[in-house]
Amino acid sequence: MEMDMEILIAKSTGFCFGVKRAIKEAEKTAEEKGSHIYTLGPIIHNPQVVGRLEEKGIYTKNSLDDIDGGTIIIRSHGVKVEEFIAAGQKGLDIVDATCPFVKKAQDLVSRLTAEGYTVVVAGKREHPEVKGLVSYGSRDLWVAETPDDLRGMKRCPKIGIVAQTTLAMKKLETIVNFCLSLASEIKVFNTICNATSIRQEECADLAGHVDVMVVVGGRNSSNTMRLTEICSAVLDRTHHVETADELKAQWFKDCMRVGVTSGASTPDWIIREVVEKIAKIGPK
Ligand code: F3S
Repeated sequence: MEMDMEILIAKSTGFCFGVKRAIKEAEKTAEEKGSHIYTLGPIIHNPQVVGRLEEKGIYTKNSLDDIDGGTIIIRSHGVKVEEFIAAGQKGLDIVDATCPFVKKAQDLVSRLTAEGYTVVVAGKREHPEVKGLVSYGSRDLWVAETPDDLRGMKRCPKIGIVAQTTLAMKKLETIVNFCLSLASEIKVFNTICNATSIRQEECADLAGHVDVMVVVGGRNSSNTMRLTEICSAVLDRTHHVETADELKAQWFKDCMRVGVTSGASTPDWIIREVVEKIAKIGPK
């Protein structure tokens, strides 16, 4: 008797709150303005969604110099304060879709700077969100993903710590520990968004209960890549796909249970297509 292959979908899949909000703002803007709508860099790290938005008239530009007029949508992970000001000076209409959790972290960097703290932004220096956070501080600011990045820092009266919203909690903890030896006053704001940590915990758990794990999301999405790493550490038979077309029947040989998870920038329709295709492939 042939048995069905069971497909288990992680509880948190699809867009996170901030991405959902940004996409909604973008679609609303497209309906209202019709044309000359831009984002600085892709609105989210998912090529299929970016492609659909292009069909609605929202285009990605890499620099403000490439935008002469119209409307600019600020992405969920924010931009540098200089870019915000420059967009206003250029006379562009600004639709600010910065996630409120990112905005809060930006405000905290400003506040700590104004209160005379040496600010440490715990996060990845090259990430656009971190570049944005840094721009709200002064020269007395450090970016650290690990304590090594703070080796040159001298003792100072007070340190204020703010985290990139998608940072792993363990990384923040090691940075806070290191800072304890550098100042007698430390103020820590835990600005890590739990949408990321919950998803990571769920996918590790799911990977432990299935034969094959499929992670769905953009190859340029760091949170999707992180989920793939986490699942691979638990289960060798982990595969990352951007779309259903990339699924291969041989992955599901002798497989009775498949787990599916997705990054925070993967839309529901792509996840649905992947699940439908896996169901069609069935157990081999
Ligand atoms: Fe915002 Fe958290 Fe998503 S910071 S953009 S809700 S991952």
